[in-house]
Amino acid sequence: MLGLGIFLASCAASKVAMTDTESANYKYAKAKFSGYTKEQFVQGKTLTETNCIKCHRMKDPARFTEEQLNKIIPNMAKKAKISDADKDLVLKYYIASGKHS
Ligand code: HEC
Repeated sequence: MLGLGIFLASCAASKVAMTDTESANYKYAKAKFSGYTKEQFVQGKTLTETNCIKCHRMKDPARFTEEQLNKIIPNMAKKAKISDADKDLVLKYYIASGKHS
């Protein structure tokens, strides 16, 4: 009982600043990836901004479909030498922010 209360409280406490577009993108991805949190969305964005601009500028996710991203991002994660966990966050961020067909 006590444990559940703490769990709910910690969930309600999560407040992350997002633009309207980001909120809409996050909601889209949350329906797709069960348990996906706003923190993970923001982490994916931050990881992209820090690891994915060494060779080219930030690539706008909105230009790509989920199918394309599933091929491109794992490849790019290898180039960027990021961990599997980080790749997962970047991929979800890109799919969230990508073309919603
Ligand atoms: C070691 C260099 C390097 C790193 C690091 C890198 N990329 Fe790339 N990326 C490339 C090259 C080369 C291309 C192909 C040429 C181009 O589109 O500029 C490319 C292309 C892309 C494309 C466009 C593909 C297309 O079909 O137009 C996306 C999206 C992309 N990268 C995302 C990322 C993301 C996300 C990361 C971080 C996880 C990343 N890249 C890190 C070198 C890199």
